[in-house]
Amino acid sequence: MKWAPTSWRNYPIKQQPIYEDPEAVDAALEVVRRLPPLVAHGEVDALRKHFVKATQGKSFVLQGGDCAERFVDCNRDSIEAKLKILLQMSLVLTWGARFPVVRIGRMAGQYAKPRSSDTETKDGVELPSFRGEHVNGIEFTKESRTPDPSRLLEAYFHSSATLNYARALLDGGFADLHNPQHWDLGFFRNPANRDRHQAMLHSILDALEFVESTGVQAGGIFRTVELFSSHEGLLLPYEEAHTVKVDDRYYNLGAHMLWIGDRTRQLDGAHVEYFRGIENPIGVKVGPTMEPDELVELIQKLEPENRAGRITLISRQGADGVRDKLPALIRAVQKAGCQVVWSCDPMHGNTTPTSTGLKTRNFDKILEELRTTFDVHHEQKSHLGGVHFELTGQNVTECTGGPEELSEEDLPSNYETHCDPRLNYAQSVEMAFLMAEHLQKTRRDASD
Ligand code: PEP
Ligand code: CO
Repeated sequence: MKWAPTSWRNYPIKQQPIYEDPEAVDAALEVVRRLPPLVAHGEVDALRKHFVKATQGKSFVLQGGDCAERFVDCNRDSIEAKLKILLQMSLVLTWGARFPVVRIGRMAGQYAKPRSSDTETKDGVELPSFRGEHVNGIEFTKESRTPDPSRLLEAYFHSSATLNYARALLDGGFADLHNPQHWDLGFFRNPANRDRHQAMLHSILDALEFVESTGVQAGGIFRTVELFSSHEGLLLPYEEAHTVKVDDRYYNLGAHMLWIGDRTRQLDGAHVEYFRGIENPIGVKVGPTMEPDELVELIQKLEPENRAGRITLISRQGADGVRDKLPALIRAVQKAGCQVVWSCDPMHGNTTPTSTGLKTRNFDKILEELRTTFDVHHEQKSHLGGVHFELTGQNVTECTGGPEELSEEDLPSNYETHCDPRLNYAQSVEMAFLMAEHLQKTRRDASD
């Protein structure tokens, strides 16, 4: 059947809010449609080219940000902190891998969330679940939980303000990563780990200084357009409103990249229908229930021409499930000859409740899923081309472990997330160092 920005409307759809006033939804989306796009199609094409390189193993994709962005975090400190951590991680990874790292924020639009249940009950009161600030408020009152169409517009403006400041910072040379004062590693409780990472950091900063002393503008690789935005393409009416025709092809200009969540990837569902028609590079979450044949069918449906750079598979099997599930998925994709980038989200398969009912993730489990995923790709003669994290540049206490050795008891002190637990600044920095060590070792083993 012929694709159109609206053709998803003929398919069964999951995870959508039910609005009391559909006309108000249409009116809000009409305004979104008339406002300028958030990104330019040339930037989307540029990102596609980066993904082509990642398919060939010549670049590495770092995607990260909040599980659910909050409107209150659309402010100077929070945006600066997010950019800083993404830039620092990418610098460390570039050093480890020796090839360019593409930075993609889960930001400037990550406001809508899928939920396991439509409603939530507390003390006998049942209300709609919180679906992200794109839809409703987190406060457990009827007023706040009722899906509010004006939030569709709010999300647009918060996305545009976030992107605007991020672009301004990068244009203005914010990416001053040389300055050791930006790199205080005092958070390591284990002195041996601190010293090891400090030594690596010195090598990185030395290398940067050397490159700059030769007159080459190393700063160029950390500047401007080279930060991309992404979010889960969940609310299809909103995504449709961002869909624009350029030279006979359709782009979603609400973000550079979008992904399909693990709960909305049904072969005959509305999300797959929408995603198959846009030019943007797209991600698909690959969770534990995905079967090899189903995955191949899904890829071929989303990208029948098998163009490199369009499809990224983001596996999230959980540390304990990778060995069992991932090899057959990789082999099926290889056998079908599909051109994809494999990425790994080591967060969503490793969420556990604490004894007091907080959602958390353990740093070592996250790392274990990553390491096992790197190994499995290696064994299958495939390669991991990217990683996908839920993280923040701030000092929250949501995941246990890491350089500050956070325990479950520490979590309530600064538990901020509206949805899933994120790596904090220190945990993200350490994760980057550990991945860089791994990439460095792989590179050395390969050249032996
Ligand atoms: C997410 O990325 O926040 C998410 C909901 O992931 P998944 O679709 O993989 O469960
Ligand atoms: Co999440």
